[in-house]
Amino acid sequence: MDFEQRYYDYKARVDGYLVDAVQQTHPRSLYKPLTYVLAGGGKRIRPILVLLACEAVGGKAEKAIHAGAGIEILHNFTLVHDDIMDNAPSRRGRPTVHTRWDEHTAILVGDELLALAYRILLRTESPRIRDIAAVFTEGVVEVCEGQAYDKEFEKRASVSVDDYLLMIRKKTGMMVSAATEIGAMIGGGTEAAVQALKTFGELVGRAFQIQDDLLDVVGDEKKFGKSIGSDLREGKKTFLLLEAIRTARGKDRQTLRKIMANGRATKAMVRECRRIFQTTGAIDAAGQRIQADIAEAKRHVKRLKPSEAREMLLWFTDMLLNRQY
Ligand code: IPE
Ligand code: IPE
Ligand code: MG
Ligand code: MG
Ligand code: MG
Repeated sequence: MDFEQRYYDYKARVDGYLVDAVQQTHPRSLYKPLTYVLAGGGKRIRPILVLLACEAVGGKAEKAIHAGAGIEILHNFTLVHDDIMDNAPSRRGRPTVHTRWDEHTAILVGDELLALAYRILLRTESPRIRDIAAVFTEGVVEVCEGQAYDKEFEKRASVSVDDYLLMIRKKTGMMVSAATEIGAMIGGGTEAAVQALKTFGELVGRAFQIQDDLLDVVGDEKKFGKSIGSDLREGKKTFLLLEAIRTARGKDRQTLRKIMANGRATKAMVRECRRIFQTTGAIDAAGQRIQADIAEAKRHVKRLKPSEAREMLLWFTDMLLNRQY
């Protein structure tokens, strides 16, 4: 079977699971927006990584479906609250929960999604369920810490690339590595295999966030499904901004410094930044960094025993690298 078809099959399985997972309809003020979130699509990267990691160590994908769905729900919880924190108007090509409904609704929907994520994760049958739940829980803690850094950095005029890397490891990397680690644990992987897949997840997660930063500047709004330029408007310290400030000179440097210190960029400043990111080579540097992380991530997967699932993981990694959304 070709990998693309298999990706769509897995994605359909996850989508179906998430629709069936919530049968409640009342209170309507909670379940209407909640099912809106879960039925909203998305790439379903994390659950598919859970399934593939499970298979890549010799396990059956069915055993990992609950954990996959649990991680996807957890991810959706982080998105709903992230959109409040980032003042984001749209996601997955639709209005965000707090704009379509209101912030109070979005807070509660997020809370319930977190609880549902645990309910569904705990359907997993595995002798290692305690360890699995621990990885999952640490993932939530790390995301909160990462999100806190993300917000703190908005107000800080000076943020190093190392600060940034720590922040994205926590807010994004941990959730991706939790997916691959948990998948490998459910599949009964050896310690070495679990470790290889965990490291793979960390690297993919890092590349993934740098690419998300990149797409926020150069992406196509229709395909990306989120408002372009929003990171600069919200004063985010992204890879591009930090990289550009390292190399920009003269007036361009002044412009970037002002944005770093002020926090918020206007629409005109966003356009100016896009030009500076091009001319300083920050866009190319981001691309190279993503390529390097992806290449290293693949080396870890190649340490696993050869299998179709291992090949699909490699294919999937390349697909993420080439994504436009
Ligand atoms: C968005 O995650 C948040 C980041 C970590 C950059 P995804 O890009 O996986 O979002 P969906 O689930 O596919 O919409
Ligand atoms: C994503 O960071 C991190 C989490 C959702 C935890 P972003 O704020 O960059 O994600 P998007 O761009 O809104 O999807
Ligand atoms: Mg954010
Ligand atoms: Mg955001
Ligand atoms: Mg983003």
